[in-house]
Amino acid sequence: MAIERTLSILKPDCTARNLTGEVNAMIEGAGLRIIAQKRLRLSQDMAEAFYGVHRDRGFFGDLVKFMTSGPVVVQALEGDNAIARYREVMGATNPYNAAPNTIRRRFASNIEANSVHGSDSAENAAIEINFFFREDEITG
Ligand code: CMP
Repeated sequence: MAIERTLSILKPDCTARNLTGEVNAMIEGAGLRIIAQKRLRLSQDMAEAFYGVHRDRGFFGDLVKFMTSGPVVVQALEGDNAIARYREVMGATNPYNAAPNTIRRRFASNIEANSVHGSDSAENAAIEINFFFREDEITG
């Protein structure tokens, strides 16, 4: 298996309920290493740029509003097959469809306040990690 990196965001519904530690324990328990991490409040410009691919979707305005409503924790994760592995640990985008013992099944409220984001491809992982971290902020 290939060692990969992926970008994770613990969303405002997660930080608001003090769940950073519990989610990080699930990430580390799944064999993924948190090789960079910071807590910040996304500006409107940052949220619109990060989710630019969804600009034409009906939920875009609400998504940007939600993602700027409180602090987030952004992380670079590393491990075997990290992109697919983290998507398994997160569970389906809609928590009602998420498998038991996934982050979203345990903690998410709905499809918008779904607790975490993870990159969906190697190409996007590189772009998304680069969006939040300089290379010298990542210690693998
Ligand atoms: P995320 O993995 O961060 O990528 C885009 C986000 O848009 C997604 O998780 C959801 O939180 C959010 N979203 C809100 N409504 C929808 C929807 N109808 N379909 C897909 N994503 C949605």
